[in-house]
Amino acid sequence: MRETQRLDKLLSNSGYGSRREIKELVKRGAVSVDNVTVRDEGMHIDPKTVVVKINGQVLNYRRYVYVMMNKPSGVVSATYDSKLKTVADILPERYKCFGLFPIGRLDIDTEGLLVMTNDGQLAHGLLSPKKHVRKKYYALVRGRVDREDAVLFQRGVVLDDGYKTMPAVLDILRQGEFSEVELVIYEGKFHQVKRMFKAVGKEVKYLKRVEMGKLKLDEGLKPGECRELAPEEEKLLKDSAGPNSAG
Ligand code: URA
Repeated sequence: MRETQRLDKLLSNSGYGSRREIKELVKRGAVSVDNVTVRDEGMHIDPKTVVVKINGQVLNYRRYVYVMMNKPSGVVSATYDSKLKTVADILPERYKCFGLFPIGRLDIDTEGLLVMTNDGQLAHGLLSPKKHVRKKYYALVRGRVDREDAVLFQRGVVLDDGYKTMPAVLDILRQGEFSEVELVIYEGKFHQVKRMFKAVGKEVKYLKRVEMGKLKLDEGLKPGECRELAPEEEKLLKDSAGPNSAG
């Protein structure tokens, strides 16, 4: 399929500066398309079918970018907030030109796996309530979590607004005054994990997402760190969204 876009937008999204800076580059004769010097930065091109050069260097065109972040506590899963720091604010400079947004939301105090991308179709596929994409969380819970809770979660619990959750799989890692668990859910209601534990009389003290679909958090990433997905991870993520979701 032919997909054209403005040259200045393409170059800006590829990290060559603001639209104004691109205009300057074009004015200086630094940009060519199929070896013809460009005079109009607003020209429409299909980057898949032409060769764009900047100062003689071929533009390595990438339509989509996929970044795995270990979201830290204290930042919101959004691209803009008038008061609070967002996950877009803490992206390294090299990713800021791509217009990345988070696939889904984690609470401000939740840590862990958050994928940021500019692939709207994939994001839609992963977030669609109909797809029931699997999410695995690690939680530290105040109270003794036991087999009975696992059975209740398997059957579905009723949340504070009357909603009955889908079957979820609870794995108890450590039991005590504070318990450590892993919980797999297939939906993403607002504050779902916290509200599920509240429904069985317990309180989540710390929450971290460790898996989304078939993609696992790279535990080598410290909170706040991120890196691009490896090609096989990108594939795992696309597989998780099911057919027709890959960008
Ligand atoms: N469930 C929650 O309660 N919070 C999150 O951030 C994610 C799932």
